[in-house]
Amino acid sequence: MTILAIESSCDETSASVLVQKANQIVVKSLVTSTSLELHAITGGVIPEVAAREQIRYIIPAIQQALMETFQYEMTTSAPPIDAIAVTYGPGLIGSLLVGVETAKTLSLLWNLPLIPVNHMYGHIYANYITQIGKQITENQPEFPSIALIVSGGHTDLLFMRSHTQIEHIGQTRDDAAGEAFDKIGRLLGLAYPAGPKIAELAKNGDRTRFTLPRPMIGSHDLDFSFSGLKTSVLNLLKSENLDFSEESLSSGKSQTLADICASVEYSIVNVLTRKTQKAIEKYKPKSLLVGGGVSANTALKQSLIAMSEEQDVAIFIPEKNLCTDNAAMIGANAFFLANRTNTTEITALPNLSYI
Ligand code: KG4
Ligand code: ZN
Repeated sequence: MTILAIESSCDETSASVLVQKANQIVVKSLVTSTSLELHAITGGVIPEVAAREQIRYIIPAIQQALMETFQYEMTTSAPPIDAIAVTYGPGLIGSLLVGVETAKTLSLLWNLPLIPVNHMYGHIYANYITQIGKQITENQPEFPSIALIVSGGHTDLLFMRSHTQIEHIGQTRDDAAGEAFDKIGRLLGLAYPAGPKIAELAKNGDRTRFTLPRPMIGSHDLDFSFSGLKTSVLNLLKSENLDFSEESLSSGKSQTLADICASVEYSIVNVLTRKTQKAIEKYKPKSLLVGGGVSANTALKQSLIAMSEEQDVAIFIPEKNLCTDNAAMIGANAFFLANRTNTTEITALPNLSYI
């Protein structure tokens, strides 16, 4: 089976062609455009701007993905694919509509089934991709699994008994982990998205110099809370009379800034690891599947790998370009949904939850 997948839920416009052979999911092409640079200027995503950029990139991205795989030029006759998969939520309504309406139009034009995919599950299924380019992964996750999704909008723990029996067991009560990185970065004068910049600065920082809270680390549930961490950083800046707005934008080399970044990263990584460990101890899974933009964070990866080794659980973390938003993960999920396809009746759902 061959699928063309489309992702347009936020500020990335992505198209991918994937093939499933036996148990292997192979990415034939993956084209991703981002409007991130425009959002860096404004300090965050402006939905209207993101949607306009989606319109600009969507057809060229699809065209390039099909060209790279089949040397196919866009015409009214269908390319050699079996279905079109598209993200229908959650996300920004204007951005989602661009992908959903484009997918619907192409499915009518080419007379192909449409597979709607939940973006959040897509992040998990990035771990089911067995080959991208020349890189091959031998292992496949085994059920039951715990999934940790850490992105700009979500911090969630899920318990998966199978592809269809999925329980939402933990979530953030306020800010998501990525959102915490981005908002704290803003306080530190770092451009959006600040997660990778904080991680980079943290490498040369001393996390013991400033002690920041690790919110809800000891709570008995599997929920998270990150908004208090932002307030703690703000209070720290006030009490130490620190202002990084100029300095970090121009040089980014201050030791104090690096030390604060190290403490912020440590706090977030530690909470995510301990709560995931708690979920593993309770549900005793065979595998841990990690996904979402924050799973590109090296300190988080190392911490989760060490913890899962201790717990004797197989851990899966996608390649960096599959951690952030991309169409390959949407296509990967679609292979497991193909028999539930309900073609053209698709609506973009910005607040879609785990169902
Ligand atoms: O999954 P994603 O691309 O988009 C959403 O669906 O939200 O995640 C984006 C988030 C941003 O908050 C960004 O700061 C964060 O992922 N991020 C990181 C790193 N790379 C991306 N956070 C910490 N360390 C990183 N290396
Ligand atoms: Zn995402």
